[in-house]
Amino acid sequence: MYLTKEEEKMLSGEYGEAKQWAMEILTKFGDSVGAKKMVPIVSSHISCLSLKIPGENEFIDEVLSRNGRVEIFSTSQCISVDLRTWTEMNIDPEVAEKQKKVIMKSIELGIAPTFTCTPYLVGNTPRIGEHVAWCESSAITYANAVLGARTNRECGQSALLAAITGRTPMYGYHLKENRWGDVLIRVRTIIKGEEDFSLLGYLVGREIEIGVPVFEGIKCANSLELRALATSLATTGQIAMFHIIGITPEAQTKEDAFGKQSPREVMDIERSDLDQLESELSSIDVRQVDTVVLGCPHYSIDEIKNIASYLVGRKVKRGKRLLICTSSVMRHLAERAGYADIIRKAGGIIISDTCPVLMVGLRESFGCIGTNSTKMAHYGRLLTKSETFFSDLRNCLEIITER
Ligand code: F3S
Repeated sequence: MYLTKEEEKMLSGEYGEAKQWAMEILTKFGDSVGAKKMVPIVSSHISCLSLKIPGENEFIDEVLSRNGRVEIFSTSQCISVDLRTWTEMNIDPEVAEKQKKVIMKSIELGIAPTFTCTPYLVGNTPRIGEHVAWCESSAITYANAVLGARTNRECGQSALLAAITGRTPMYGYHLKENRWGDVLIRVRTIIKGEEDFSLLGYLVGREIEIGVPVFEGIKCANSLELRALATSLATTGQIAMFHIIGITPEAQTKEDAFGKQSPREVMDIERSDLDQLESELSSIDVRQVDTVVLGCPHYSIDEIKNIASYLVGRKVKRGKRLLICTSSVMRHLAERAGYADIIRKAGGIIISDTCPVLMVGLRESFGCIGTNSTKMAHYGRLLTKSETFFSDLRNCLEIITER
């Protein structure tokens, strides 16, 4: 692999042990995937802090033992405990203590304590064409497809190594030719609202598993809808990039979206396909829902405002639970704006920094989960072993609250 003079210096140890070690691993990996050179990155999003994924916390210790620090702006993925509500959520105190220690170490590394799956809402917002090294599948797909930034699907370790050196091997989605579409999705129904986009992505991800889908027939999409599509595509498929003709930045035309290649597959989506999936995602009757989970991915401030407006004059039903997941940045805003107070008074709980899927040390289960996110329904079943009910936001709120 070709290395610049600066990169050679890192590799030779001129800039210290941590950069040398990180560069050694990155060049070896780069060679193995056929990268011809490194590319400088503008930011990283790192997931080594959660207690859920074995081995990731130990990697932080390894970096610290070499006096490593991140070189570029780096945000952190969700953790496993909300240190503000952990007693309310009945989390094992030992687990909370362990999480605190990992947080302190990550701050020592220079990682911003954002603890969110939506780094692009808290200042990590690369521009079109900029290279980054991000973790978190939903954020990766959003960065590539919606922001037009360029990242591969990094794991916690590779994102941290990239943050230490400010470089990542130039391969995969960093190269234009790998960003072109290869499957045409003809959408034969009107897609409107986050739930529709979430269902569409879930279905397409499940069908094609890997590749770059190009959606034709979607007339408009706001940022929340695009986020729902990105998230669900990356839930059932290893999809890090998509295009919507006329909407996403690298697909002003069909020709832009496909570049020099033709689709290897064409798939038609009808309303009946989405309806069928919606019923598949509901393994229980609406009356069995114990906990409604909103904010997967983490809610933005306008979404929290929307929930607060709905909850004025309403209360969460006795024996039920309403959880709203967000970042602590958004929670602070919600506190200041008075939305958090309205939600609390209605009996809702705002969880920041984490979500039910990543939580560790819970002493009681969430019971049956109701949600408007296909990702939460998917992992709710898979990881928390909860039965799930999928519906739109309005319905989720209606079933859990009363006047
Ligand atoms: Fe975020 Fe947890 Fe969903 S990390 S994307 S809220 S599963």
